[in-house]
Amino acid sequence: MEYTNLQIELQEGILLVTINREKALNALNAQTITELEHFFSKDAPQRKDYHGIILTGAGQKSFVAGADIKEFLELEGDQGMEMGRRGQNVFFLIERFPKPVIAAVNGFALGGGCELAMACHLRIAGENARFGQPEVNLGIVPGYGGTQRLIQYIGKSKATELLLTGDMIGAEEAYQLGLVNHVVPSGEEVKKAKSILSKIAQKGPIAIAAIIASINAYFQHDADGFERELQAFRQTTQTEDFREGAGAFIEKRKANFRGK
Ligand code: COA
Repeated sequence: MEYTNLQIELQEGILLVTINREKALNALNAQTITELEHFFSKDAPQRKDYHGIILTGAGQKSFVAGADIKEFLELEGDQGMEMGRRGQNVFFLIERFPKPVIAAVNGFALGGGCELAMACHLRIAGENARFGQPEVNLGIVPGYGGTQRLIQYIGKSKATELLLTGDMIGAEEAYQLGLVNHVVPSGEEVKKAKSILSKIAQKGPIAIAAIIASINAYFQHDADGFERELQAFRQTTQTEDFREGAGAFIEKRKANFRGK
């Protein structure tokens, strides 16, 4: 596949994958999700020339500022459900990937960006990183696993506050809450991720894959919270409040929600 929104480079036995839509703060549009899906399901599993993956965003301002809100406005009927399921499945591919995947978070990690960072096995934040799930400001819920993984990382109490308020937190607070593994000076996220991956590269790859699979097994519960989130995403992408919230973002004004 020809990648247009992903830039993939082999550096020192590591695949550095850069989401390359800087003008839109690297927002995840449908094309970018397709490319991530192709990379994690086809290219990366076939290649033998690397031992780990780093995901980052182009530029110095943003890792990923969310799903692409401009595409949201075109969603009709059950398309919200389809979009959410597709994104969730791509993020499961990342979470279940047998080689280590590290997010180098170089700025905003909001909405789908925070969800993408949480699907990675480890997160390195630059000092300017900002995390949050601001979907509630648009009148919807996170649809790429945010309601589930945020609780897994930082616990129910703080996760509930962030999900209900849409507030952002900085790198230091994210570190204290356990959302990120390390905070480094801005611009050094990839360097730190590489040094962790080179340490992991000295271990046995079968053990590494088995540890990743075992950790994931811990979170497989009977009640399917991911499915519940998809139902909520479908429901909220069909409301007038959602059109108002996403429209207000694009028109750069405050949203006026009416509960419809
Ligand atoms: N989807 C689509 N476009 C986005 C985007 C998104 N999630 N986030 C940012 N952009 C675009 C903006 O529309 C703007 O485009 P324009 O220049 O054509 O108007 C450009 O990226 C720069 O963003 P801007 O808002 O001007 O930058 P800022 O520094 O003032 O604010 C943010 C940065 C991240 C705080 C702000 O862009 C934001 O709130 N983004 C949305 C975050 C969000 O709600 N994500 C969850 C989506 S589910």
